[in-house]
Amino acid sequence: MNRHIVQSSASIDGDIIGRPLDRIDGVLKVRGLATYGYEHRAASRPAYGFILGATIGRGRLADIDTLAAERTPGVLLVLTHRNAPEQAVFGEPTTPEVPQVFTRARPVLASDAIRFHDEPVALVVAETFEEARYAANLITCRYEQAKGTFDFEAGLADAYRPARANAGLATDSIIGDVDAAMNAAPVTLDQTYETAFASHNPLEPHAAMAAWDGDTLTVHTATQTLANIRAGLAATLRLPLDKVRIVSPFIGGGFGSKLIVHAETVLAALAARKLGRPVKVALTRQQMFANAGHRPAIQHRMRLAATRDGRLTAFSHDVIETTARCEEFAEQTAATGRSLYAAPNRRTTHRLVRLDTNRGEWMRAPGEAPGLFAIECAMDELAEALGLDPIELRIRNEPERDPERNVPFSTRNLIACMREGAGRFGWDERPRQPGSRREGRKLIGYGMAAATRANYLGPTTVRVTIDAQGQIIVQTDMTDIGTGTYTILAQVAAERLGVSLASVRVELGDSTLPRSAGSGGSWGATSTCTATHHACLALREKILAAAREHERSPLHGANIAEARFARAALSIGSQSHPLREIIAAVAPEGISAEGNAARGETYQSFSQHSHGAHFAEVSVDLDTGEPRLRRMLGVFAAGRILNPKTARSQMIGGMIWGVGAALTEETVLDPRHGHFVNHDLGDYHLPAHADTPDVDAVFLDEHDDKANPLGAKGVGELGNCGANAAIANAIYNATGVRVRSLPITLDKLLPGLPIA
Ligand code: MOS
Repeated sequence: MNRHIVQSSASIDGDIIGRPLDRIDGVLKVRGLATYGYEHRAASRPAYGFILGATIGRGRLADIDTLAAERTPGVLLVLTHRNAPEQAVFGEPTTPEVPQVFTRARPVLASDAIRFHDEPVALVVAETFEEARYAANLITCRYEQAKGTFDFEAGLADAYRPARANAGLATDSIIGDVDAAMNAAPVTLDQTYETAFASHNPLEPHAAMAAWDGDTLTVHTATQTLANIRAGLAATLRLPLDKVRIVSPFIGGGFGSKLIVHAETVLAALAARKLGRPVKVALTRQQMFANAGHRPAIQHRMRLAATRDGRLTAFSHDVIETTARCEEFAEQTAATGRSLYAAPNRRTTHRLVRLDTNRGEWMRAPGEAPGLFAIECAMDELAEALGLDPIELRIRNEPERDPERNVPFSTRNLIACMREGAGRFGWDERPRQPGSRREGRKLIGYGMAAATRANYLGPTTVRVTIDAQGQIIVQTDMTDIGTGTYTILAQVAAERLGVSLASVRVELGDSTLPRSAGSGGSWGATSTCTATHHACLALREKILAAAREHERSPLHGANIAEARFARAALSIGSQSHPLREIIAAVAPEGISAEGNAARGETYQSFSQHSHGAHFAEVSVDLDTGEPRLRRMLGVFAAGRILNPKTARSQMIGGMIWGVGAALTEETVLDPRHGHFVNHDLGDYHLPAHADTPDVDAVFLDEHDDKANPLGAKGVGELGNCGANAAIANAIYNATGVRVRSLPITLDKLLPGLPIA
């Protein structure tokens, strides 16, 4: 196991689930004792790799001269496609079945083909990182350049329909006749919206340290899902699964970029095997922009038709998005609208434009985050055309059942979130006329938008053990990507077993532990807590049986049906004995039990989503057009909240990402060379504290008994759903200028502002 002991020192008993507790891994992190993948101290001295990337966007590596690099002091190995060990073949570039996409072989340096700009062409391994980087710069490449396609706009006419969208969803869903409804309706909207390429940029870049012991590979890395990385790496290297161990106890953010195996991990493994010593490889921040996925650029055509009193007769969202020639990714952007509003005529479609870039990947709320920008801006525009309050328009189109699946919602408090938020935010005080409120040289506006996110559960097993000291150990290969997994698992186990929080140790992030669904799709907390809940119930049964049946047990022969686990003791009738005393007597080696989570029947018979509402107040400078967020409130309903402190942090993080998407974030693709131009944090602008002055998130009380036994739903992505639209709508309210293209930078606003 790893050497980290993640355990709270706080003696907290009783009802622990739902309390706003500090992270139990917090002290390790604050003290720098939580080591991340690249920091792992290997048994023997590691070597350091540096990746050299291609400087063309498409073509062939005709020649590569590595001689100077090889002669550089400290250099141990230069890997290119010429000497890289054989790997499995990369599959066909179509959207595969859902599990396959996460685990397919992804060979690196496998041929002379260049498929995208900055694709690895060499790995230099040296005694130090600096020597490797220096030597990499001495390599010269001769390319045969092929004509690449890097212009989304130019490719729109050639958009194609993929076999399916991400998560296995149908590309098209068509009900009734949208065209006829548009022709017949008194009020319609037909507008095109754009969302930009975006890059994940977790604080911890992608990194791996690979070490071989005979034919067994251990990789310390940064991943959201150990099982995927393990399977993907094993497939790439053609190893049996049991020869690959992945360790990832702490992860500095992922946001969807750490769901599959990437070049640094494969290259570290190849080099470590060749050299017979541990090798560390990390992507630089710049390399991450082309080698760790991105959110595709998307064009959204929204069509809405409504009666005069604001009832939708048609809802249509046609999406065209970028994909990569080397591997398809079809974000399920338009699927967002399939369960959001009532309308008899409905249409949602996905089409793709192939570019010669790296593959798009899942990015925090894939689907909803860009999808809701288009939907919720369109609803805002329709509300104005109808002369209705934007919230009232949503109330009038609230569906009683899922409008496409015709099943009930498990819970749906979308409108309740809007009403609560309107009251708290002071929505009544918003400017009724766009562009009508001024404070000096600033225009002030309010905007709101709905939030919705599909709720998932993934197959997960958790093992819970009690030892003879009464110590509880929770084990699964689940990750904590900064979200609070360690803490909520300790909360669930402590409450279910009736022990103090301080008695629970949580061990995550090792593929030798029972397999979980990992962190992704907002399913992490619900899947692992559900499995922990079941494991604890199973453990209680085992403890109870042993306590009654074992001759040395102080409760031997106690046959009253009623047993209680509380205060670290087991009570049967009037007798009560500490758990440690019982375990020491009946099973000094400890007792373990496993619990599972899996999607049940309620996933078919109910439509499961979390919901929310965002409210934003912005100012726009009349002279410069600079938009600034002033304050933002999110109200969310996501089932039972397991830990309001860590959950609130996630919501606020998601909302701030929405601020970035709305105002600053865009990865700019050079249409001539296929190069992501602004590939660093100096030019790719993330919101900083000064950009997010007053952001708050609150939860409504909710309990979703269809989701899982805890009544909880995922929160990781919900905060990022619709936040961008609330800000865009506020900017319109401030200025009267409707910008339908993200990010809303001042150059897009300025031409429309009054000169006054
Ligand atoms: Mo998420 S985009 O599945 O980490």
